[in-house]
Amino acid sequence: MQQKNFAEEYDKSYKKYDFIVQFFQLGRDRKHRIKSLQLAQLKKNDTVLDICCGSGLSFSAIQSIIGKEGKIIAVDANKHMLDLARKKAAKNNWNNIVFIECDINKSNINVQADLALFALCWYDCKICTEWVRHVNHFLKPGTGIFCFIDYKYPQNWIRHIANPVLSLLVKWLGEAYNAEDLKWNPMQEIGSLLINPSYKTFYLDSIFTINGRMK
Ligand SMILES: C[S@@+](CC[C@H](N)C(=O)[O-])C[C@H]1O[C@@H](n2cnc3c(N)ncnc32)[C@H](O)[C@@H]1O
Repeated sequence: MQQKNFAEEYDKSYKKYDFIVQFFQLGRDRKHRIKSLQLAQLKKNDTVLDICCGSGLSFSAIQSIIGKEGKIIAVDANKHMLDLARKKAAKNNWNNIVFIECDINKSNINVQADLALFALCWYDCKICTEWVRHVNHFLKPGTGIFCFIDYKYPQNWIRHIANPVLSLLVKWLGEAYNAEDLKWNPMQEIGSLLINPSYKTFYLDSIFTINGRMK
């Protein structure tokens, strides 16, 4: 059976992608990314692999930590999303970003990065686990760390309003998620791939971050 092409989905929605993300997080997206990267102990001058970088929404958060001497390698298979990311970089004079238009599984990157970021791109346990195993080859042996950021279904009172809010987002904005997609256990799917994973949730338990080195 042919694997689903998740990258193609953004041919329709790339123009409103940033708006959807910001809207859903009420403008706190950058804050959430910085927090996650700090928890993963990203440092000044580090090299980051921004896996499925999309429109480059992580760039600002990464740059604020690694600085000009650091480096970002931004990989995505969707041309439209990558064009948005390139424009963002040009507008902000971020000259330390290398762009690679490629399927993650076919990527061959000549680097030993400090951190691989997977932000909002955990689609499917089997496929994404393959991505993690593949990307591990481009991390510094022994020290290279993975950092994941994604949505989850909240376990607190918010869960009572999550369904209608998500249906609104799905219908109105054409967002690919629905409530059922979010009912998963990140620590089981992602945490089980890592050594002593560190896990934290924020934004009323609807966003999580996990970091750690691969087993
Ligand atoms: C939801 S967006 C996330 C973008 C960005 N990481 C963020 O946090 O905003 C998912 C991205 O994954 C990319 N993608 C999906 N499947 C891919 C694949 N097999 N190889 C490379 N990129 C892929 C899509 O093109 C899209 O830009």
